[in-house]
Amino acid sequence: MSAFVRNQWYVAAYGTEVGRGLLARTILGEPIVFYRTTAGDVVALADRCVHRRFPLSESRLDGDRVVCGYHGFTYDPSGTCVSVPGQTRVPRTARVPSYPVAEQDSFVWVWIGDPARADNSLIPRAPWLADPAYTTVRGREPLAARYELLVDNLMDLSHETYLHGGYIGTPEVADTPITTEVDEERRVIYVSRHMADAACPPFYAKSTGIEGRITRWQDIEYHPPCLYLLHSRIAPAGVLPGADGTDPHGFHVEVVYAITPETEHSTHDFWAVARDFALGDQEVSDFLAENNRTVVLQDVEALDVLERVIQHEPDGYRELSVNIDTGGLAARRILEKMAEPDRAAAR
Ligand code: FES
Ligand SMILES: [Fe+2]
Repeated sequence: MSAFVRNQWYVAAYGTEVGRGLLARTILGEPIVFYRTTAGDVVALADRCVHRRFPLSESRLDGDRVVCGYHGFTYDPSGTCVSVPGQTRVPRTARVPSYPVAEQDSFVWVWIGDPARADNSLIPRAPWLADPAYTTVRGREPLAARYELLVDNLMDLSHETYLHGGYIGTPEVADTPITTEVDEERRVIYVSRHMADAACPPFYAKSTGIEGRITRWQDIEYHPPCLYLLHSRIAPAGVLPGADGTDPHGFHVEVVYAITPETEHSTHDFWAVARDFALGDQEVSDFLAENNRTVVLQDVEALDVLERVIQHEPDGYRELSVNIDTGGLAARRILEKMAEPDRAAAR
């Protein structure tokens, strides 16, 4: 298992979660407080007062400043302390770290590593989530397992057949071989499974209205460490996109996960399902939200169990990998590579 990859963008929250209150969230083991200024910009500060480490998230906002709830040290949005009680001089070292943040595709992204290296153009995209041509349902579940277990889980969808039977799993998912490609330079992993003639699971039968067998494509695109995209295409069996690339008879679902480590043994599991059909149909939205949350919780339950197993096993357990694991193994390899500079710096 690899260490944290620090010099990266991570999803900290949905934009709608951050407002004029103080939101506490731990990311990569660092307690952070998030809020919006009166102008609407997101601020992320270390959630520990420099004085006696009282959580700033348990404090209050005064305009754009945070006033510590214990003795009143007051911080501006850059983390600089601008006032301390009982004296006019503010010590030069009175400041808390501030984190670079960016809002994109409905998410608030935070950069945990060296702030000088934070470059907004490095944030991977999930444009469907903020695109009016799609209708999106979303959620966030706490996972009491290390993030690598969620990466493994999402890179190998053969588990849908067993863990999510009756929801999104059918026998064809486990039975159909995958192809895996790695773009080493851009650090993107692609895993595809195209089922030509498959049973339609309730998740898609109910939401699309298709009756009978389907052509079902699953094209995964993982941008390690944080962003996982599953491009899902559903159509009546045998119906394919046109030669020109248009696909008027296909139903497209973009499943997005943001995988953000909370601690070494827990993870923020952000999930969203964006569709290009039944736009604005509340019944379909409610069904997909409820159904996908159930599926996510099935994974959470399994991964929570796995985390406990791993924590209590003796060193040296050897896993056995097979063809379905090629995507997960590629992800592990790239995450290792990405974590190496941080590991070297810690030595
Ligand atoms: S702990 Fe914040 S002012 Fe004392
Ligand atoms: Fe799953």
